[in-house]
Amino acid sequence: MSRKPLSVVVLAAGQGTRMRSHRPKVLHALAGRPLLAHVLETARALGPERIVVVHGHGGEAVRAAFPDPDLAWVEQAEQLGTGHAVAQALPALPDAGLVLVLYGDVPLLRPQTLARVVEAAGGDGLAVLTARLDDPTGYGRIVRDAAGRLARIVEEKDAGEAVRAIREVNTGILAAPAARLRAWVGRLGRDNAQGEYYLTDVVAMAVAEGVPAAAVEAEDADETLGVNDRLQLARLERLWQRRAAEALMRAGVTVRDPARLEVRGTVEHGRDVELDVGVVLEGTVRLGDGVRVGPYCVLRDVTVADGAEILPFTLVEEAEIGPGARVGPYARVRPGTRLAARTRIGNFVELKNAEVGEGSKINHLSYVGDATVGREVNIGAGTITCNYDGAHKHRTVIEDEAFIGSDTQLVAPVTVGRGATIGAGSTITRDAPPGELTLSRAPQVTRPGWKRPRKDEPPRRRRGGRGETERPAEAPREEEGG
Ligand code: UD1
Ligand code: CA
Repeated sequence: MSRKPLSVVVLAAGQGTRMRSHRPKVLHALAGRPLLAHVLETARALGPERIVVVHGHGGEAVRAAFPDPDLAWVEQAEQLGTGHAVAQALPALPDAGLVLVLYGDVPLLRPQTLARVVEAAGGDGLAVLTARLDDPTGYGRIVRDAAGRLARIVEEKDAGEAVRAIREVNTGILAAPAARLRAWVGRLGRDNAQGEYYLTDVVAMAVAEGVPAAAVEAEDADETLGVNDRLQLARLERLWQRRAAEALMRAGVTVRDPARLEVRGTVEHGRDVELDVGVVLEGTVRLGDGVRVGPYCVLRDVTVADGAEILPFTLVEEAEIGPGARVGPYARVRPGTRLAARTRIGNFVELKNAEVGEGSKINHLSYVGDATVGREVNIGAGTITCNYDGAHKHRTVIEDEAFIGSDTQLVAPVTVGRGATIGAGSTITRDAPPGELTLSRAPQVTRPGWKRPRKDEPPRRRRGGRGETERPAEAPREEEGG
């Protein structure tokens, strides 16, 4: 790569009309991040001295989405063409360096491809990135001389039949010395089919001046694709996802179906990780050795330790899953949850801001939020921590080896002591002492001889207008039952 200081100019002022969106095009998401974020990441990988983003329509929204201190912003108030857009950025660039022009809506380019363009420009020449397409419609065409050297770029709307037949196209990516670019862009006219200042016209100027001009063909034309509408966005998403799945597989991850994995962030992983179909990984996801993620699970900003298993249809967000833990199927693990080793979280269990100690089990239909659960605790089906009083959140503490019977409400703040047992169906409002059985339960009554109401009998009268149904004489009232 050239050691000349590098400035990157990212063009992002286009209207993006064909997106039919209120949102600026470069803010539309690819793999969970704005298109522009992908371009900036690639630009940064080249180690430039500065990055200038040219924005236009909706520019404030774009700037707000990227408060990154290493970015300079210039506005192109009127979209008068790519040459005009670059002209807006040039005053911000020093004469001594090399300028690389990128598009904010071309997100798949890899740093190594751009490095080839920078290298081809060398210290003092110009280089453009080209691609060979089966269908070159819409693109500027690369015209070469009899010796095969780059001669000029002709926009499709300005091209005759012979030029339109050329399948090598201009990707729009270009590198040139800042001083030369300044001179050339200053001389651009708009006497063409679109009445625009074409950046592409600088190629013919370079050739006329005898400045070395190189056309670097991309090895993979897919990399150079841009987004103009939502169909192209979806196509690029598939390409991006394919690339991500392939990278994971090469690194030793089993991906059951690379077409049915979604990566919207970064994945770190150990050996022998298995990802089943329909898995969505968002944000930063860390998966230890031997982690298995079942079908249709969503993991966002999650760390899963060695040997843990996430069973089908489980959603885990901002949580830590300990070694050998098993979560799901159909579990929801919300932010702030930490599951220690060998924990078991079963179906229809919701956890939020909960710490669950080693070997503890919450296997069915429970809500455990704002809770500290010790080791080897068993929480029965239908247990609910009532953590919210309508104004404040309160914590529930369940100490080691406690046993919570099914259908228990733990009204926080409350502590269940070590080794305590809570009888099924209890509403626990005060601390339960360690080692004892605590329960709160209405006594069971039986009313011998009670008969169900029948349709062929007149309805039974209510007593005292208090909404109470009159009971047969032989049945004791529940309150009286002791
Ligand atoms: C341009 C190239 C064409 C190339 C094609 C690749 C020119 C004259 N033509 O076509 O050779 O094949 O890209 O996609 O350069 N932009 C601005 N301000 C403007 C105009 C455009 O910032 O005034 C930005 C757009 O946001 C976009 C990029 O420049 O990111 C390209 O603009 P677009 O209109 O898509 O490309 P064309 O000019 O049609
Ligand atoms: Ca375009």
